[in-house]
Amino acid sequence: MRAKSTKAIYNSRGKGLTGELTVPGDKSISHRGLLLGSLAEGRTKIENLAPGEDVRSTVTCLQALGVPLGERENQFVVEGQGLKGFSEPEGSLDAGNSGTLTRLMAGVLATYPFISEIDGDDSLRSRPMERIIEPLEAMGARIDSREGRLPLLVNGGDLKGIKYRPEVASAQVKSSILLAGLGALGETVVLEPGPSRDHTERMLKAMGYPIQVDKNRITVSGPHKLDPLELEVPGDFSSACYFIAAACLVDGSELTIKDVGLNETRTGFLELLNSMGASIQTTNYEERNGEPRGDLVVSQSNLTGISLTEDQVVKSIDELPLLAVAATQAEGVTEVRGAEELRVKETDRIKATVSNLRNLGADIEELPDGFIVRGRSKLSGSRVESFKDHRIAMSTAVAALVAEGETELVEPEWVEISYPSFFETMEELLDD
Ligand code: S3P
Repeated sequence: MRAKSTKAIYNSRGKGLTGELTVPGDKSISHRGLLLGSLAEGRTKIENLAPGEDVRSTVTCLQALGVPLGERENQFVVEGQGLKGFSEPEGSLDAGNSGTLTRLMAGVLATYPFISEIDGDDSLRSRPMERIIEPLEAMGARIDSREGRLPLLVNGGDLKGIKYRPEVASAQVKSSILLAGLGALGETVVLEPGPSRDHTERMLKAMGYPIQVDKNRITVSGPHKLDPLELEVPGDFSSACYFIAAACLVDGSELTIKDVGLNETRTGFLELLNSMGASIQTTNYEERNGEPRGDLVVSQSNLTGISLTEDQVVKSIDELPLLAVAATQAEGVTEVRGAEELRVKETDRIKATVSNLRNLGADIEELPDGFIVRGRSKLSGSRVESFKDHRIAMSTAVAALVAEGETELVEPEWVEISYPSFFETMEELLDD
């Protein structure tokens, strides 16, 4: 067996992160731009599409469904096929590592009168799909699975609208049902149990679809033409967060992150850091394609611990492993509960976070639905794992920057799922 790759991380010059940066395009918006663009009538142009492997998987799946799309002069061009324009794929659709692609695509494919198979890597094969199978079947599709897990065989056709309240606050589940609702007869209503990210709703509105959003009640009303978009994807807030946290934690940091998506359903981590005592300013705020964006200015701050509410958990779900890292450097206790969803992400992110931070010397307690961190702790370099999870790799790299001595991160290449140039950017900011 080949030895696993590793990366040594050590802030050898003991310097802060300084300068200006942009982060890659938003992954959630990119998936949706490609998918909805392919359902539109006409040509969608996308600037700053997310560069990682997850979005690449969406591109190859859409190609397999007969959608012409590709890069042209710094833009990504999607030739929309209308709501019923996909052709039956020849083989299995490979969603790679992407839960978002799987769940959104299943919703779209549920409206097609053919059988399609969606499969993915080992991590994706372990993630729960019952949460979309149940509503899509209630709408009239048939979906065979391996006990609620991939591979999925989607046998779609004529759907009818439903009114559905998902058990979990999940943008992937909500979007899957709404996308199926675009091709269904009558109204489809999703009653959200919590405020999950709303990129699908905003994009549908920007494409001229008569979607109705009334607090937690979202209604689509069947087939209606989607106008193509000229989409400018903002920087991914979730990618920016690693550098926001690093700048808060490492002495002497002063960082400006340009043109980041600031959709409120995503920026929970900013609110959390600000209430822990961070100093993060927003400038150049504006809205494009129905999505807010702006620049963030961050400098080193002294943090204190915090207890999260349920809504705060949903709005910062992807950043909770990173919050644990910040909490190790905050005075007092940080408590996260009600975050059991972390156990069914790309890896069990509660277990992975606890294991890595303990290895580095943090005082962190595992809970069934979260964790408790007692700060502050002096971290020291150690051997840690990415657990084949991009967000665990990047959060742990931030912890390594504040640790004394060298940290060896095993399988760092998993950052390529969402942020292929993560380590180069980190090194540049430390060198500035
Ligand atoms: C995403 C939704 C979130 C998030 C994921 C991306 C999306 O998952 O964790 O990284 O683009 O819809 P859930 O909707 O399952 O919470």
